Amino acid sequence: MLLLFLVTVLIHHSSAEHYKTKPSFVKTCSLSDPDFDDCSQEAVQLLFNALGPGLPEIDLPPLDPLKIPKIRILQGEGPVNVNAALDDVTVTGFGKTDVLLSQVDSKTYDFYTRVRVPKIRIEGTYDLKGKILLIPLVGRGKCWFEPSNMTIDIVSDVKLYEKDGFPFFNVTQVHVKYNIGILKLYMHNLFDGISSLEESTNAYLNANWRPVSESLRPILSKTIEDILLGFMQQIFHNLPATFMIEDVKNNHLFSKRNDKV
Ligand SMILES: *[C@@H]1O[C@H](CO)[C@@H](O)[C@H](O)[C@H]1NC(C)=O
Ligand SMILES: *[C@@H]1O[C@H](CO)[C@@H](O)[C@H](O)[C@H]1NC(C)=O
Repeated sequence: MLLLFLVTVLIHHSSAEHYKTKPSFVKTCSLSDPDFDDCSQEAVQLLFNALGPGLPEIDLPPLDPLKIPKIRILQGEGPVNVNAALDDVTVTGFGKTDVLLSQVDSKTYDFYTRVRVPKIRIEGTYDLKGKILLIPLVGRGKCWFEPSNMTIDIVSDVKLYEKDGFPFFNVTQVHVKYNIGILKLYMHNLFDGISSLEESTNAYLNANWRPVSESLRPILSKTIEDILLGFMQQIFHNLPATFMIEDVKNNHLFSKRNDKV
C-alpha cells in the first residue's frame, strides 16, 4: 500500500526567549511524590487549558480553533484509494480536552498521556478523486467531519538537553492511538453537484461511519501526531523541564543515551 501525506501545521519554530520564571499555567510536580500521576494529570490539564487560546509570548498559535493550511492524502490500493486534498482547514474542539491520565517514565522521561475530546469538528475545502468502501467518489467543495468522544493515547519520546544552565525536554516523536464514539461527516458538491447522488452517498458514508473512519485512521493519526509534536516541541523548548518536574536529574543528560539502548 502506498501512502503519502503532507500536513502543514502553522508553527514557526522561533527563537523567542524561553520562560525565565514559572508561568501561572504551569504546575510543578515531583517524581519522588507517590501521587505524582495525579499531580501530573492536573499539570497537563492546565497546560492544555492554556494552549486553547494560544501563548503568543512563545509564538504558539491557538490550539482551538486550529488552522491548518493543507492536508494532502495520496493513498493507493485497498478499501480506500484516493487522491485528496483538504485546504484551509479549521479544527475546533481541542480546547475542551480532558486529561484522563498522565505518566512520566522516571528513567527516560518519556510521557504517556490519555486524553478525551468530547467533540471535534474539522471543516475545510476538499478536492477528492478515488474510492472509499468501493464507491467511486469525485468532487470538490466544502466539507466537515465530526468525530465525537475521541479518546487519544499519546506516547511522547523525550530527550533532555541543556540550555542557559536549565534542563529542557526535547520531544522527538509522538505516537498516538485513538478511538472515537461516532463519526459524522458531510461532503458538499460530491459528483460536481448531482444533488440526489450527493445526498445518498453522504447518507451511506454516515450509516457506515465505522469503516469510513477506519479508512481515515492513517491520515488522522498522522495529522494528530504532527499537530501534537509541533505544539509540544514549541512549548518544551521554551519551558525549563524543572518548572514541570522539579526533580529532573541533570545527570540524565549524559547517561540517558546509554540507558535507553
Ligand atoms: C466515550 O468513550 C469511552 C470509551 O472509549 C466510553 O467509556 C464512554 O462511555 C464514552 N462516553 C460517551 C459520552 O459516549
Ligand atoms: C532534538 O532532537 C532532535 C532529534 O533527535 C535533534 O535533531 C535536535 O538537534 C534536538 N534538539 C536539541 C535542542 O537538542
